[in-house]
Amino acid sequence: MSKIVIENVSVVKKKKLTPDCFAITVAPFSKVKSIRPGQFVHLQIPNCNLFFRRAFSVYSVNTEEKSLEILFKVFGRGTAAMASLKKGNRLSLLGPLGSSFRKPKKNELIGLIAGGVGFPPIYYLSRFLIENGFDPKKLFFFYGGRGRSDLIELARLKKLGLNSVLVTEDGSLGIKGLVTSAVEKWFLENKGSKVVYSCGPEGMLKAVDQLAQQYNIPGQISLEAPMPCGVGICLGCIKPLKSGGYTRVCKEGPIFEIGEIIL
Ligand SMILES: Cc1cc2nc3c(=O)[nH]c(=O)nc-3n(C[C@H](O)[C@H](O)[C@H](O)COP(=O)(O)OP(=O)(O)OC[C@H]3O[C@@H](n4cnc5c(N)ncnc54)[C@H](O)[C@@H]3O)c2cc1C
Ligand code: FES
Repeated sequence: MSKIVIENVSVVKKKKLTPDCFAITVAPFSKVKSIRPGQFVHLQIPNCNLFFRRAFSVYSVNTEEKSLEILFKVFGRGTAAMASLKKGNRLSLLGPLGSSFRKPKKNELIGLIAGGVGFPPIYYLSRFLIENGFDPKKLFFFYGGRGRSDLIELARLKKLGLNSVLVTEDGSLGIKGLVTSAVEKWFLENKGSKVVYSCGPEGMLKAVDQLAQQYNIPGQISLEAPMPCGVGICLGCIKPLKSGGYTRVCKEGPIFEIGEIIL
């Protein structure tokens, strides 16, 4: 595991994707090369007087520029302050933090299941796999939301050349329904080894976790939790384990095996 560092970085790019969703790129971060899909960073957000840092999954990295990109949605005070950051603003970054997704086996079909702000780590994993020799035709990206406006960065997703399955609850884009119904159909229609990776709202993760267990498909999910310290000290992020006891989302997670956590 790479050493965790705290460094001051600058905003080098900021893009408004929807009225409440932004992508920012920060640099330079010395550990960019060691970041793996699923890992996150903890940001001290300037100009908002917040004591605790906020956690964000890494969306993409550029090793030459030593930059990393984050995609975020405005939820509260911290993310609202992040939305008003400007190019050149400085912020303190702690990372890289947490566990990362394991690589699938070469013979497996890969189901990537994202909802809402669960999109960034699943997109990064997809891109990483393709850049590391996995056939995009074996990757199936299931992207779910309530409506059309929840599904962002579609052009960027398309560029990966994988199979994408868009699903909206109101039917305004792609298949109408829940993303897990599309995943179940995929389980039933495709014989052979499969693996799933998922990140999104807890309700969706719970459904993915149950479905994968029902069909005996291995995989991993990425969890979120309130994260005061981000480095395993405060126990503010614990979740109950099926095998008994608790685990820390920031330290042992955020990536856990299907069936490992009581959701
Ligand atoms: C490992 C990890 C990766 C994450 N990656 C991303 C990402 O890539 N993009 C993104 O937009 N967000 C991500 N988040 C969520 C992000 O950390 C929160 O949206 C952010 O902390 C909210 O801060 P705030 O000050 O704006 O909101 P606050 O004022 O702190 O909270 C606003 C509301 O949201 C609730 N809330 C805040 N944080 C969480 C949480 N983690 N889980 C459940 N409810 C919460 C609060 O209870 C409150 O109701 C991630 C969280 C974790 C733990
Ligand atoms: S956030 Fe402090 S232990 Fe996980």
